Parts: sequence; C-alpha cells; structure tokens
Amino acid sequence: MKLHFPRRYLGAFLLPAVLFAGMTAQAEQITVSCGAVGMELRLCEASAEAWASKTGNEVRVVATPNSSTERLALYQQWLAAGAQDVDVYQIDVIWPGLLANHLIDLRPYSKGAEDAHFKSIVDNNTVDGKLVAMPLYVDVGLLYYRKDLLERHGLAVPTTWAELTQTAAAIQAAERAAGNDKMWGYVFQAKTYEGLTCNALEWVASYGGGSFVDDQGRVAVPNPNALQALQTAAGWIGTIAPKGVLNYAEEQARGVFQAGQAVFMRNWPYAWTLLNSADSPVRGKVGVVALPGGGADQPSRSALGGWQLAVSRYSRHPELAADLVMFMTSAEQQKRRAIEGGYNPTRRALYRDPDIVRAQPFIARLEDSVSSAVARPSRVTKGQYNRVSVAVANSVHAALSGRSTPEEALKTLGAELKRMSRRGWR
Ligand code: GLC
Repeated sequence: MKLHFPRRYLGAFLLPAVLFAGMTAQAEQITVSCGAVGMELRLCEASAEAWASKTGNEVRVVATPNSSTERLALYQQWLAAGAQDVDVYQIDVIWPGLLANHLIDLRPYSKGAEDAHFKSIVDNNTVDGKLVAMPLYVDVGLLYYRKDLLERHGLAVPTTWAELTQTAAAIQAAERAAGNDKMWGYVFQAKTYEGLTCNALEWVASYGGGSFVDDQGRVAVPNPNALQALQTAAGWIGTIAPKGVLNYAEEQARGVFQAGQAVFMRNWPYAWTLLNSADSPVRGKVGVVALPGGGADQPSRSALGGWQLAVSRYSRHPELAADLVMFMTSAEQQKRRAIEGGYNPTRRALYRDPDIVRAQPFIARLEDSVSSAVARPSRVTKGQYNRVSVAVANSVHAALSGRSTPEEALKTLGAELKRMSRRGWR
C-alpha cells in the first residue's frame, strides 16, 4: 500500500526526525551470531554486552549449531537470502574464501589493528585484497592425557601414534582388569563433519602424507603414507576407541574424557579450562601436549583451526557492526577470553602477557604450535573447499567404520577430488 500525505503535513513528519538525528546518535540493535561450544556463548555474550554498555547500543546474540559443517549450511542460507537480521558472523578459518562475496572489507575500520595478529591468519582472512574478517581466536589440535593413569601404570606420554596405540591399549586393559570396565584408550572426533577432516589431516600429515590437496592445487591422495595413517586410525575403532567415536564431535569426546572414561583425547584448547573446572571429575589429573607424530622423522602436525568475526554486506549498520568486531577482537577482550576460557589469542603479544601466562600457562606454550600448524586446503580449493572437506570426511568415515578398506577409501577420494578439480579450483 502506498501512503499519500498532503504536502503540508510532510514538514511536521520530517522536522522532528531531522532534529533528532542531528542531536544524538540513535541507539541501534546489532545482532551477532556466535559459536556455542563449551564456554563460547557465555564469553561472546559478555564481550558483546561490554560493547553495548560502552556505546549505548543494544546487542542480540544468536547461538548457532556446534558442528562447523551445519553452521556453514545455515550461514549460506541466510547470506544467500541477503538476510539483514544478522550483522556480525563468527566464521571458521576455512570460510573467508567461501563467504567473501557476502562480507564487507574491514580495512577502513581496523586502522591497522590486524598487524598485531598472526600474519598467517590475517593473510588467510584477506580475499582479493579485502580483509573480510578479524581473527577472534585460534585453535590447534592437542593431545590430552590422564597424568594419574600414566603414572599408575609407569608409562610415558606417547610421542608417536604407534606409542599412543600401545599405551592406550595397555592402560585400558589394566584398568578394565581392575574393575574399571568403562575405560577406553583414546577418544577423538570421527563423526562425518568438518572435525573429522581436521583429525584425518593430522594423521595423514604427521605420517608425511600431505594435506589431501597440495599448495599448488594438485590432488595428493592416494599415497602410501596417507594409507599408513588411515590404517592406523581404522585399527583404533572398537579396540582402543569406542565405536561411538564414529558419531563424536568435540563435545562428545570431552564428555567421555571428562567423565574419567578415557586415557587420551584429541581436542582443541577450549577443553582445558572445562576439564579443570570445579565440578570436573578429572580436575588436576590431566596433562596436555602436542599430538603424536608418525615416527622419528615424522613430527606431530596439528590442524590449524579458529574463528573470526565478519560483517555482513546486508547489515543495515555496517559501521557499528565493524566497531563491535574491533572491540571483540581487541587485546583486552582476547585477554579476557584467554584467562576465563582458555581460548588462544590471535594477537602474538598476548602469549607473553604476564596475567595470561600466570592464569593459563598452557597457552603461552602454544605460540609455536600455532605457527607450525597445518592448514586445511581451503585457500587453494577456494569456493569448492566445502565439497572437498565433505569428500574427505565421508571417505575417511567409510574406512574407519569398515564400510570400505583404507585402500579403497583413499582411491575413491583421490578420484573424486580429481573430478572436482578438473576445470581448476574456483
Ligand atoms: C574448531 C576449529 C575449527 C574447525 C572445527 C571442526 O571449532 O576452530 O576451525 O573447523 O573445530 O570441528
């Protein structure tokens, strides 16, 4: 319906609005979509609220699914529809290329703040010269272990996957024989989703088998080292790992380990603070180290993970939204996140911040792991990365669950990736 106002009334409508706008900036509502794994949502809300009270605006925080794969599907739906009701998106380290067209360039608002963050992450978030996201926190895969159980059984922290397999089996058997019949050796993430791609990348890369697609965009599987990695992992299912891992994401693995029912766990840094929280059955009994390597000259390789904040092109308040992003990624807020939740800063200087070093000493030790972590092939495979990851997760899951042999799984994966790349990654 079209409204017609007689000309003489127009002034009466417009004048107060003009005056009001000139007098004071209007309070706006900014909506930010955050992750909700572990303490994430609470930390995001606290940070957003601090910005709201500082600026006099309002924030609305929307939680999203824990699975990165599901979250991407949701974001793609919203963004494809040009949804205006989410201003700020928390995006995964593998998405800048996939989502760049829907995001604004933050450089006009950052005033060089990006220079204080890990350069590799800033480069990752820069697409065709546009800084499409500011780094919020960085993740690396880690090995959590039960100090008390290793001591009780006189065994050392494993540094290779073969040692982990043996140690996990030995402790599991001894604990079960002593009546601890729920004990498992190793839990990790093997549901078909992005987290399995991360675990598989760590196995394969640490056996010297590459990262599925190399830096030049060439398909890097099958190869004998990747096969050895996948055979090793497939051997864990039902022996040192419950069959249930085939359906575990981060929080399911943490649930089992935190309940005291596993010797080892692969997870991201966020688990540390929760494992040591007041009501945790394993509080004080846990150690954390780099993941095992393939062998003597095959070092540990952690997958590089982490989250960024980006402003939607469809936001009605891009300036305010960008201001919120700069606030939430500031040194002060990253420090709070690190101390309260154990989330790894993306600002290098914070790894030497005395308060962080005192409160979360394990974070200070992770600076080098961040620099040497292995990236998923998202930059090189561009808009097709999600299909690549789904193919990796599906074929690895087939090998783990026994639906195919590791040989067949890698052969099929190689053929599928070749087909996808036939006309170049785009
Ligand atoms: C963590 C990582 C992220 C990764 C996801 C997989 O959230 O930060 O990069 O994609 O786990 O489950």
